[in-house]
Amino acid sequence: AAPALQGAGSVKQQISNLVALSLRATVPEVDVEPIVEVCTGKFGDYQCNNAMGLWSKVKGSGTSFKNPNAIGQAIAKNLPACDVIESASVAGPGFVNIVLSKSWVAKRIQDMLVNGITTWAPILPVKRVVLDFSSPNIAKEMHVGHLRSTIIGDTLARMFEFSNVEVLRRNHVGDWGTQFGMLIEFLFEKFPNWEELGSQAIGDLQVFYKASKQRFDEDAEFKDRAQQAVVRLQGGEEKYRAAWKKICEISRNEFDQVYKLLDVQLEEKGESFYNPYIPQVLEKLSSQGLIEESEGARVIFIQGHQIPLIVVKRDGGFNYASTDLAALWYRLNVEKAEWIIYVTDVGQQQHFDMFFKAARMAGWLPDPKEKKFPKTSHVGFGLVLGADGKRFRTRSTEVVRLGDLLDEAKSRSKSELLQRLTENGKIVDWTDEELEQTSKAVGYGAVNHVFYLQCRYADLKNNRLTNYTFSFDQMLSDKGNTAVYLQYAHARICSIIRKSNMDVEELKVSGNISLAHPDERVLGLYLIRYAEIVEEACTNLLPSVLCEYLYNLSEMFTRFYTNCQVVGSPEEPSRLLLCEATAVVMRQCFQLLGITPVYKL
Ligand code: ARG
Repeated sequence: AAPALQGAGSVKQQISNLVALSLRATVPEVDVEPIVEVCTGKFGDYQCNNAMGLWSKVKGSGTSFKNPNAIGQAIAKNLPACDVIESASVAGPGFVNIVLSKSWVAKRIQDMLVNGITTWAPILPVKRVVLDFSSPNIAKEMHVGHLRSTIIGDTLARMFEFSNVEVLRRNHVGDWGTQFGMLIEFLFEKFPNWEELGSQAIGDLQVFYKASKQRFDEDAEFKDRAQQAVVRLQGGEEKYRAAWKKICEISRNEFDQVYKLLDVQLEEKGESFYNPYIPQVLEKLSSQGLIEESEGARVIFIQGHQIPLIVVKRDGGFNYASTDLAALWYRLNVEKAEWIIYVTDVGQQQHFDMFFKAARMAGWLPDPKEKKFPKTSHVGFGLVLGADGKRFRTRSTEVVRLGDLLDEAKSRSKSELLQRLTENGKIVDWTDEELEQTSKAVGYGAVNHVFYLQCRYADLKNNRLTNYTFSFDQMLSDKGNTAVYLQYAHARICSIIRKSNMDVEELKVSGNISLAHPDERVLGLYLIRYAEIVEEACTNLLPSVLCEYLYNLSEMFTRFYTNCQVVGSPEEPSRLLLCEATAVVMRQCFQLLGITPVYKL
């Protein structure tokens, strides 16, 4: 039977399903996964690369095939008759080039316009993901690295959610540890009425942190009290817990402001949440013989690492690693996540590498070579540098105030916009509110976009690691692969649609897309690749793949628009639908990237 006209999953997935049927008919004796890629040459849209591998499996086994090319021919011939594929041909040693049917492509686009872009969601092999991102530390600086983690993590979450995967967005806040002793003592000292303090009353928590640290370093008696405070806090003494809560609350307030600005949803489950689970988790590991005594500490020795992973410090306290082991145990066993993803700067790579290995030694995770779930991944990224080559800061303050960073991006994009509109005499067409909203969308969007970019051109491991030099000028330029350029591209399409006298909403239902012109066909084919792009971005944890797609899509649209007249041409109804489809797909990309699209610029 012919497969349904519009199946679920990406186009690549659907072609793979058809190829799988053909493979079964061609070589019933061998069980292989279909290998389907986007075609690199000009003889097809997708290609099947199974023939060569199959040949090495069947040759010498009395097969009737004479060479890989003959297998390719048979694969092409055995593709089920259906409305997806127009034709298939074989090139070279046995590459099967598949040409999609234009009317199927057109139908798929129109279907999306009528039923919504969610019909283009890819199907991923996981149901539930834990995404551990942002994760700043209480009372310490929330630096630009945390901002990057927040932005990359949020976009990964959005991409998975779009693909119908349940995402547990976890803020693994650093809210536990010995620094709280000194913070609490300092709070008692400076604010005897600390219990009545409002969340803003301490003022700047980072300054507070520094001052308490100074006190700790300079005064032995204070240091002593601070160390006792840790013990009393961990022992659960009420006054100490209340003070700890107060300090966390103040920090949380500050973090929440950033999340609100960026429209990021996160659920806080900080280090303290996992603390009660640590003893039992270490007990299990210990009974498996994984934990050893070393120089007074308790450690796990891990192959390939010079130093062991410390899980209980010499003073008997738990640490970052023991907390992460307990959290992983919880995420696997209680939350039943299949994929646990951590987004931090690359400086922590060794930590993740080591505790992932420890979890494998304990049998919690399969060998990564098996490519099975559950699995863990660390998304590491490089530093953000200022023009001086040092860690990026705004103005002259010591750390980047995220609010300042976003504000500056917004005010810069506003003055650019004002200048341009004034020069073109268009300023009269804009309300103050429009100006404000647009510069916010463009400015904030540019910050988001810039944080994905440095990991583009995909070999994941190495590319995410490079440091990035932050520059407002570059970020807010309207040339090249920038968010501003993309915003312009989208707004231009919206203006074309506005210019037409036809009603797009009506056309979606009554009109027809034809892909007669070669540039229409190229654009149409690229549009329907959307699902596999999201699939790739999720699979490789690379939001930049989506940025790249968005950029290419706008370039393809420009080519189409240059060569195919839209408004006033006989093809206007069909071409207007292509414009609309491009705008819808672009908006969906923006949405996944956490960028607010603008319709007029
Ligand atoms: N709080 C840590 C930091 O600021 C990041 C935590 C990342 N998550 C984790 N489960 N270790 O560096």
